[in-house]
Amino acid sequence: MEYITLNNGIKMPLEGFGVFQVPDAAQCEQAVLDAIASGYRLIDTAAAYANEEAVGAALKKCGVAREELFITTKLWVQDASYEGAKKAFQKSLDKLGLETLDLYLIHQPMGDYIGAYRAMEELYKAGRVRAIGVCNFYPERLTDLCETVEVMPAVNQVELHPFFQQEKALAVMKEYGVRPEAWGPFAEGKHGIFTHPVLTAIGQKYGKSAAQVALRWNVQRGVVGIPKSVHRERMEQNFDIWDFVLSKEDMAEIAGLDIGHSEIVDHSDPQFIKMLHSMKTPD
Ligand SMILES: NC(=O)c1ccc[n+]([C@@H]2O[C@H](COP(=O)([O-])OP(=O)(O)OC[C@H]3O[C@@H](n4cnc5c(N)ncnc54)[C@H](OP(=O)(O)O)[C@@H]3O)[C@@H](O)[C@H]2O)c1
Repeated sequence: MEYITLNNGIKMPLEGFGVFQVPDAAQCEQAVLDAIASGYRLIDTAAAYANEEAVGAALKKCGVAREELFITTKLWVQDASYEGAKKAFQKSLDKLGLETLDLYLIHQPMGDYIGAYRAMEELYKAGRVRAIGVCNFYPERLTDLCETVEVMPAVNQVELHPFFQQEKALAVMKEYGVRPEAWGPFAEGKHGIFTHPVLTAIGQKYGKSAAQVALRWNVQRGVVGIPKSVHRERMEQNFDIWDFVLSKEDMAEIAGLDIGHSEIVDHSDPQFIKMLHSMKTPD
């Protein structure tokens, strides 16, 4: 596994493990334990996933030193304000059972996220969190934020996979030194990704699966990947991407799979925005 250096000098694993849609506490705890035993050191959760306590329980039991782990959680829309962010941050830390966090992200570009970001800058300067950043900040939102902040976001976590490659968004992130992190690196299973003929054929050359090719393609672009699975053998497979290199031709062939839009979410749809505002995190 490789590490990258963020714009504030801290190291972040180039691959991590995501726990979206694992609300069952026992299953989530076991998944995180299995992921850490498989070699993952970055765990990506969120207040909105309703599983920070289960992640925290696994972190206590995992037997890996805290300083070797890189823990990310996220601020939900309802708490997107200066005061809200301060309270929500402490609540997340308490649930995770941690003193400090590695990465705190604004989950959506909604609500008073500028106020929230100011609070996060203070938490960062106070040493409570080692890096701060955002999710789902499309080029115009990210530019607006980066032009107003004191502490540049270290990471922007956005949907990135072979069918939605977001080259324009990556160029804006590069301009500001913001590291891209891929959510939905498997497009949440859409586009027949796990049996896709192009990814499968490329994988056959290296003895790898379509899933491994999709992940390797992102890390070779410098994008951090955080695949999710509740199956140990898939976690291991998804982590086994460090012993092969896709050729220039492979990368170019995968570039041809881009359809240029998401088939998972639409941040320009008012109904989607309303739905996110109506979602609340658990107490
Ligand atoms: N910031 C945001 O707005 C945002 C949004 C979405 C996600 N995320 C983060 O990104 C992480 C990853 O995204 P995601 O969970 O949405 O989707 P994903 O990782 O693209 O796909 C997960 C799906 O792929 C399956 N899978 C995993 N490995 C596989 C393999 N080797 N072969 C076949 N199937 C496999 C999983 O099934 P099983 O679990 O049954 O194995 C699950 O159904 C999340 O967990 C979360 O941490 C962030």
